[in-house]
Amino acid sequence: MENNEREFPGAGRNPFPQDFFWGGSIAAHQCEGAWDEGGKGLAMMDLVAAGSVDTPRHISRDFEPGFTYPSHTGIDFYHHYKEDIALFAEMGFKALRISVDWSRIFPHGDDPEPNEEGLAYYHAVIDELIAHGIEPIVTLYHFEMPVAVVREHRSWLSRETIELYLRFVRTVVESLKGKVRYWATFNEMNHIDPMSEATDIFIYMITGLTGADLADRPRDLATLGYYMTVASMRAVHLIHQIDPSAQVGCVFGITPMYPKACRPADVLAAFKGMDRDFYQIDAMCTGAFPAYKLREYEREGIALDYRPEDAEAFAADRLDWIGMNYYSSEVIEAGVSAEGESGAFFGGLKNPYLEQSRWGWTIDPTGLRYLLNYAYRRYGLPLMVTENGIGAIDTVADDGRVHDDYRIAYLREHIGAVMDAVELDGVDCRGYLMWGPIDLVSATTGEMRKRYGFIYVDKQDDGSGTYDRSRKDSFYWYQEAIASNGGTIR
Ligand code: BG6
Repeated sequence: MENNEREFPGAGRNPFPQDFFWGGSIAAHQCEGAWDEGGKGLAMMDLVAAGSVDTPRHISRDFEPGFTYPSHTGIDFYHHYKEDIALFAEMGFKALRISVDWSRIFPHGDDPEPNEEGLAYYHAVIDELIAHGIEPIVTLYHFEMPVAVVREHRSWLSRETIELYLRFVRTVVESLKGKVRYWATFNEMNHIDPMSEATDIFIYMITGLTGADLADRPRDLATLGYYMTVASMRAVHLIHQIDPSAQVGCVFGITPMYPKACRPADVLAAFKGMDRDFYQIDAMCTGAFPAYKLREYEREGIALDYRPEDAEAFAADRLDWIGMNYYSSEVIEAGVSAEGESGAFFGGLKNPYLEQSRWGWTIDPTGLRYLLNYAYRRYGLPLMVTENGIGAIDTVADDGRVHDDYRIAYLREHIGAVMDAVELDGVDCRGYLMWGPIDLVSATTGEMRKRYGFIYVDKQDDGSGTYDRSRKDSFYWYQEAIASNGGTIR
């Protein structure tokens, strides 16, 4: 013990608040499977085939022979949820972030009545969580849109979709009111922006599923992001009206941007680059859609459908908390496009000071502390780390276990960074929800081999496997971290 204390100065401390949300995050389309059971409709991700680090996921207009569609089976959480939640509880989880798949509730998006079987399924999952003392944190849109909404309403390119989404939100929130206290309106809408290199697969979903080209790409991308922002703000207000005690947040995938050099032009480029990830948070926390973004669109000749009633929606309410998904940081050099630079994530330049994961994502725990400080000082609102983790190839050893010391090392560093933000910097961070606490389908590549979990799932990329669950070394490590409220992290 004494040695430990010397080695890890933090050991034995109790750095996080007692009610800190230790736990994890999962998303319906990546884990549930059962894509055509329980009255579920066809959703966008059901038509996205598996890819790899080198091969982008193929988006099918209809099912095509020769492709596998990983969402169809996921990890079969739909049938295993009791077992999986028991394992989360064994680790000591205080919270689990799940998403409700829109296509389970309104299979075609505009059905006259909700699908009761879909609602019953989410009630069952949430009851199970509550029975284990795990707080459900529910995301209302984690890329799970009914295909009919894309085909018939052009997804977030039309205002009709905002109304359909709000009807879905109303149905779910009214139904789960009293059981769910924490809601997130969206996951990572910020990846859609005309000024980014648009490497994100979700941007292409509309063209892929409808076969139609975006008529005016910059304007359409701006519109997608804008209508989602309006939808989120209206959902925040709606949820508060339905349940005034609800804590409503929104989750963003943030990539801090560093200037390549101290050249002032690089510093300014990095500063402005952060707009991509922050303008929607500004819109949801300051009472107005940010003027700098409207100016940017004006400068770029983008005509945004900005209406007075939207301004009222922004003024009407605010987020209660901000969710931050953090995986990586990015480097920017003024006037230089990083398109195609190998190993870069999100089009950024390589950072010579950082290692990368096998999938080219830089490993940067300090970036997480930077981000938490940045966001907290900007908004002064409670934050939650809603995703963080490392995708790695795990091997089951001869003793039947995965010895994932690399995952433990990654998490130790990153949770340590959260601890520093809380303890040393005074950031109000309410939780750490590790991404994919049980192995699940990768969103960007559709692979199973890109594993994040504390719990190994015996399913391979070709769909083979028993779907059996087993505990990795990191399972026990996280269990101790939670039991000690972070005291054993360092
Ligand atoms: C986030 C998404 O962007 O990154 C998750 O919210 C996703 O859905 C996670 O799974 C990690 O990405 P990937 O591609 O490694 O699964």
